[in-house]
Amino acid sequence: MSIKLSEGVYWVGIFDWKLRIFHGIATPKGGTYNSYLIKDGEAAIIDAVYEPFFDEYIGNLSTLVDPTKVRYLIVNHAEPDHSSSIKSLVSLNNEINIVCTARCKEFLEKMGVQGKFIVVKEGDTLKVGSKTLRFIEAPMLHWPEVMWTFLEGERILFPCDVFGAQVVESTMRAEVVGDIEAHAKRYYAFIFRPLVAAVLKGLDKVEGLAPAMICPSHGPVWRDVARIQRLWREWSTKPEGDKVLIIYSSIWGDVDKMARAIADGVQSTGAQVVIREVGDLSWSGWADLLADAMESKAIALGSLTVLGGIFPQLLYATMLLRLVKAKKIGLSFGAYGWGPGVTKKLDEELKAIEAMPYREGIEVRFTPTERDLQLCREAGRELGERVKGVS
Ligand SMILES: [Fe+2]
Ligand SMILES: [Fe+2]
Repeated sequence: MSIKLSEGVYWVGIFDWKLRIFHGIATPKGGTYNSYLIKDGEAAIIDAVYEPFFDEYIGNLSTLVDPTKVRYLIVNHAEPDHSSSIKSLVSLNNEINIVCTARCKEFLEKMGVQGKFIVVKEGDTLKVGSKTLRFIEAPMLHWPEVMWTFLEGERILFPCDVFGAQVVESTMRAEVVGDIEAHAKRYYAFIFRPLVAAVLKGLDKVEGLAPAMICPSHGPVWRDVARIQRLWREWSTKPEGDKVLIIYSSIWGDVDKMARAIADGVQSTGAQVVIREVGDLSWSGWADLLADAMESKAIALGSLTVLGGIFPQLLYATMLLRLVKAKKIGLSFGAYGWGPGVTKKLDEELKAIEAMPYREGIEVRFTPTERDLQLCREAGRELGERVKGVS
């Protein structure tokens, strides 16, 4: 299978229809490992694919070119979803030139790749027939060795993981995926929000390039290049809305009741509220949790008490939230049976993610009474008012 994108430019990647989790991101509609072929007399591949799909990949390439005759393999990124099939490719074609940054060469060699390397740096170009490829270093997008490839003339940007979305669309057109922004946001939140300083530098570089088409390494191709750039800029610069995120763990429903009462209070102010119960580590909502966190001005954190402390799965959530810390308002709540103090520990977690508690945590013994729930509703109302800037 291959898809023509422009004269002499083809997608030859893999649709992983069965993929349901990638990098901790839920991928309900599968995911892709994109590889692109530039063909004009001679041929160059931009990024390889994940090794388990190597045979299918060679089949895709073979529809357009003899894989043993491809002259260049451009490696934008050494992460195994793009690089783990390079060893197999080199054993099939040991004349292929691996084009990458010095840091990428170092990474690939440590992964056991041997072959003919051409090391490139910012601004270097490579001729493939009459086409010219230019390389742009893009450190920390997503790893330190990353570079982008830009096809001059056609102005097509191949930014590897940047502008990705893990979703399969069989014609590779972003504009026909109705919920493309949700997929792109989930992917951005989990992979790139922690790297926001590098992202902002990268977005400036993209503006300077003024691409006509963007071909990322995951998900469909963007012809509406302004849309994906605008989304990334928004998510990177003004991600917070009048929204309260309530994250909690509950086993017997007591903390659950408190969370719902807090949500009632928030809702009564007209502010948005999202409740995420962190059940277990196989939960597929981690990326959504980060996306919600980057859009919220307040976080309420609730836990039952386990051996005098916080429910462990909730600690995984706060560890992730440290990656997207931004000044927010915090509130802790929880339930205990024989030893109080869980909200003090939750407050420490809130401080670590820079969601500063604005009041003492709400703690109940076993089952919350109607009075306790009223307290939760009042705290929720106060949170809602604070995020709306009313009080
Ligand atoms: Fe990556
Ligand atoms: Fe990737």
